[in-house]
Amino acid sequence: MDDKKRTLVTCALPYANGPVHIGHLAGVYVPADIYVRYLRMRGREVLYVCGSDEHGVPITIKARQQGCSPQDIVDRYHNIIKESFAGLGINFDIYGRTTSKVHEKNASGFFRKLYDDGKFITRESEQYYDPEAKAFLADRYIVGTCPRCGNEGAYGDQCEKCGSTLSPEELINPRSKLSGATPVKKKTTHWYLPLQDYEQWLREWILEGHKEWRTNVYGQVKSWLDGGLQPRAVTRDLDWGVPVPVEGAEGKVLYVWFDAPIGYISNTQELLPDDWEKWWKSPDTRLIHFIGKDNIVFHCIVFPAMLKAYGDGYILPENVPANEFLNLEGDKISTSRGWAVWAHEYLRDFPGKQDVLRYVLTANAPQTADNDFSWKDFQARNNNELVAVFGNFVNRALVLTHKYFGGKVPACGPLQDVDKELLSEVPALKASMEKNIEEFKFREALRDAMGIARAGNKYISDTEPWKTAKTDMERTATILNICLQVCADLAIAFEPFTPFAAARLRGMLGSSLDWEILGRPQILPAGHTIGAAELLFEKIDDAPIDAQITRLQAIKAEIEAKAKAEEAKHIVPQKEECSFEDFEKMDIRTATVLEAERVPKTDKLLKLTIDTGLDRRVIVSGIAEYYKPEDMVGRQICILANLKPRVIKGIESHGMILMAKQGDGSLRIVTPQEKVNNGSQIG
Ligand code: 2FM
Ligand code: ZN
Repeated sequence: MDDKKRTLVTCALPYANGPVHIGHLAGVYVPADIYVRYLRMRGREVLYVCGSDEHGVPITIKARQQGCSPQDIVDRYHNIIKESFAGLGINFDIYGRTTSKVHEKNASGFFRKLYDDGKFITRESEQYYDPEAKAFLADRYIVGTCPRCGNEGAYGDQCEKCGSTLSPEELINPRSKLSGATPVKKKTTHWYLPLQDYEQWLREWILEGHKEWRTNVYGQVKSWLDGGLQPRAVTRDLDWGVPVPVEGAEGKVLYVWFDAPIGYISNTQELLPDDWEKWWKSPDTRLIHFIGKDNIVFHCIVFPAMLKAYGDGYILPENVPANEFLNLEGDKISTSRGWAVWAHEYLRDFPGKQDVLRYVLTANAPQTADNDFSWKDFQARNNNELVAVFGNFVNRALVLTHKYFGGKVPACGPLQDVDKELLSEVPALKASMEKNIEEFKFREALRDAMGIARAGNKYISDTEPWKTAKTDMERTATILNICLQVCADLAIAFEPFTPFAAARLRGMLGSSLDWEILGRPQILPAGHTIGAAELLFEKIDDAPIDAQITRLQAIKAEIEAKAKAEEAKHIVPQKEECSFEDFEKMDIRTATVLEAERVPKTDKLLKLTIDTGLDRRVIVSGIAEYYKPEDMVGRQICILANLKPRVIKGIESHGMILMAKQGDGSLRIVTPQEKVNNGSQIG
């Protein structure tokens, strides 16, 4: 890393149409925060920029669903998100909004310059239009039946049930979400950025020049470039967004993915109206974008092409450390299905435990592949790592110092091998941490920091100062002196990862936050007074964990019930034609169940004795999964009376009960709505 350069760190602007969840935190915000805290500790000049992404179709859809304005939606979520970040110690220099005046002016001006410089092309195309609502329809505003799975609520861009990517043309029976009308095609003109013109330049800049980028990022860029870039529309027919600042563009706004990245610049301008350019237009600035993998194309291809087209000295990102996704208890996080752990709810349910979440999300960071969060792992990492290793070591060191040395750092005497070994481990782990953080390997860097705690914990267990205190106070002094130095090291090393605990530890030790002193001998001088020992971390018992698991189980049950209900709606295609004579052959009648019992040693079969009006007979039926014997007695049913008798499990069955088989395969008895005489013929 070039020490002399300043660093501009941006985090993907979260959409203000919902709160942020642990997937967002693990993928973008916690790693960015680690990076920024580390650089600041090292005395580097850093600017840390984020804000809400407040445009785009999903926000307008949410507003319609909730019967309020898009502005109401973004106001609500902007505040929730902002508070969640602050609650977790993620303190941006600015957390702006893309509905701000500064941004509207900036994004509009950005478009206008590209327009004036002839950087766009226009294209006329046919887009779906709602003739009743008199509005063009984004793909998300068109719903219909999925051609792949039959889901009646598929969107024009995607079926959330089977996961297929769709286009509105593919939907069966498409309808507008605005009015329910059938969409029609209508001509419209939009502005496009001809990305293909930047292809060669992108190849040289990234594929040749940035081979050090993460393989997932590099690979995605390569496959986009190898696939050939196409012109990309940067405007939309929509009434929510930054208006297109061109005559004849009434009713059009900038595409959200055109305006959002410009938001990084706008937010910098808002914070530093007179000084923002040094962060965006100076070769002495390194720009780092923290994002999730779904944002790679926009940050590595589209936004750089926009900046290149604009010229005027804008810098390009030096790195884009995009993460993969975090799953929750083995399943993909889904905002729409509620399968998530929300940051604001975590802060409410686990007050004072911000560090635990930061720690667990870093230990499980989805850096190179998708990773998983589970509540049991969360509990285990807290109890077995933060409490049992880090917290336990610090606590023993401080308590014993108070006990034997009145809370003053004792003097260090001659060093034994075991002491030297520990003291040499710290600088090695420090060097590894530096390398890992600078290469965006935060999981590995956390392992290094934890390595210091583990080494300290092992040292105090091996040297047993509570025993040496009985015979050799000088040796005890040396051991505790060394332990306290390592505690002070930990208060520095953990600052990027668990900043709340690190600050408390520095408070207890009266030590300072300076990366350079980490690992140096005697950073706490002998005689220095330390404060009272407080617990750094507390054990989390089963009750709050079980409560979270129960909550997720309820959500899972709801998701499954919804899926089943959807499945049940699935209609099996009609069978081949049959003749009236074929139908006439079947003797279908009403009957009443007199007795019912399970057929022994089977799960599915009931033996029913029924009154058919003609006779009393036995029918064996495969309905035991759905009906208990006592549900059947007295019930009127319909039967196929002239079915050839069959022996089932040793019982002769005379006929068949008519049942409705639903899309999910479940069975329901067909019962006449009104009571009719047994033996009445159906036909
Ligand atoms: O994926 C998202 O959540 C987007 N709102 C990220 C935007 S990043 C930047 F370009 F603003
Ligand atoms: Zn589908």
